Amino acid sequence: MAETAKIQVDGRTVELPVMRGTDGPAVVDIRKLYGDADVFTYDPGFTSTASCESKITFIDGDKGILLHRGYPIDQLAEKSSFLEVCYLLLHGELPTAGEFAQFEKNIIYHTMVHEQVDRFFQGFRRDAHPMAIMCGAVGAMSAFYHDSTDINDPEQRMISAHRLIAKMPTLAARAFKYSRGQPFVYPRNELSYAENFLRMCFSVPAEDWKPNPVLAKAMDRIFILHADHEQNASTSTVRLAGSSGANPFACIAAGIASLWGPKHGGANEEALNMLKEIGTVDRIPEFVQGVKDRRYLLMGFGHRVYKNYDPRATVMQKSCHEVLEAVGHQDDPLLQVAMELEKIALNDEFFVQRKLYPNVDFYSGITLRALGFPPEMFTVLFALARTVGWIAQWKEMIEDPSQKIGRPRQLYTGSPQRDYVAVDRR
Ligand code: SDX
Repeated sequence: MAETAKIQVDGRTVELPVMRGTDGPAVVDIRKLYGDADVFTYDPGFTSTASCESKITFIDGDKGILLHRGYPIDQLAEKSSFLEVCYLLLHGELPTAGEFAQFEKNIIYHTMVHEQVDRFFQGFRRDAHPMAIMCGAVGAMSAFYHDSTDINDPEQRMISAHRLIAKMPTLAARAFKYSRGQPFVYPRNELSYAENFLRMCFSVPAEDWKPNPVLAKAMDRIFILHADHEQNASTSTVRLAGSSGANPFACIAAGIASLWGPKHGGANEEALNMLKEIGTVDRIPEFVQGVKDRRYLLMGFGHRVYKNYDPRATVMQKSCHEVLEAVGHQDDPLLQVAMELEKIALNDEFFVQRKLYPNVDFYSGITLRALGFPPEMFTVLFALARTVGWIAQWKEMIEDPSQKIGRPRQLYTGSPQRDYVAVDRR
């Protein structure tokens, strides 16, 4: 007997199917609700709404669990590499050695961008926020790669996925170099994904650049931690944009725009600015009081889904210590402030009662700063890493036979119908 849920409204009773997945809450399938009962459901922040069926990522907010295709994030961060996680997110299984070698070669040989793209950057002011540049540059890729924008061709979908994963580091490094007034650096095929990115960001023509394996490993792990995260705001933006049939480059540009918000991917930049503003451990109590008085948020804390420790924050904190050690900043005062602030918040009723824990953004800022990035580049790095999650979710949506254009409805509380009044009678 199929499981159902009953809704009684306006004297009518509607029975709706209940669907259960591999794990997580069951869902009530309300696709027939409007047709059968002439009512909508109402859920502005989608807190209680499953927008799709997906096999890519699972989050259990109460237990602090994050799985990518079933594999726990801490195991992937420890044992895998970002490109291997990219393969996993796109294809659903970990690659054999041969499959990975082919995939890695595909990515490495797509890292260059069209020379005209470099001229595209010249149109921006040097002090443009790198995220503004990324919104423009990634959207502009639609103008260069016409041969992989037919979303109905599986081969073109995979080529555009490879192009985006491969070219995001090159574009992100260019956004950084452009803001610094330094020359662009071409990718090198003999370097790993993370080494290539660090070299394109930090090498200068005046001297040779050598990869630092500890920093490259930390960068690669940071990319893994940011790769995908279920139906978050930017991923939902990519899915909604893609549901109209827009090309993948335009959809990823939409995702970048959504990620930029301070309540989402922009939080890592804001979290570091917050730690700088606090400055020293003795000023934490005064700052925490300001949070309690609702004057500002504790950036890098809280989450729409995690009501426990964000498993990524645990790994990020470990990476933070490793990077600071490697660059000789282990006594970075901001790390002391962050650790003391975390300790105070985790024991303060205001935060405990609201289930506010550090999220992935709390320690990433300190780590990225130690790697040499300015705060305005932090969300660019988040976008670089999240591109694989966005494109994997976009691909899953396009390949879903039940997929329709996204078109939510509303609760209308505006004026009832009324006739136009000429200006001399108003
Ligand atoms: C990311 O969705 C994802 O998966 C996102 C992400 C991903 O990988 O894609 O994980 C990346 O965006 C992480 C979150 C980064 N954002 C920040 O660190 C910014 C600070 N955090 C807040 O803006 C907030 O926690 C949100 C936006 C993340 C969640 O907001 P919600 O869903 O409104 O939080 P909530 O309903 O759980 O809030 C419960 C209470 C409320 O207070 P009351 O009105 O009930 O008294 O806690 C308060 C909130 O006002 N609250 C905070 C707070 N976060 C929530 N108070 C102070 N500081 C905070 N950070």
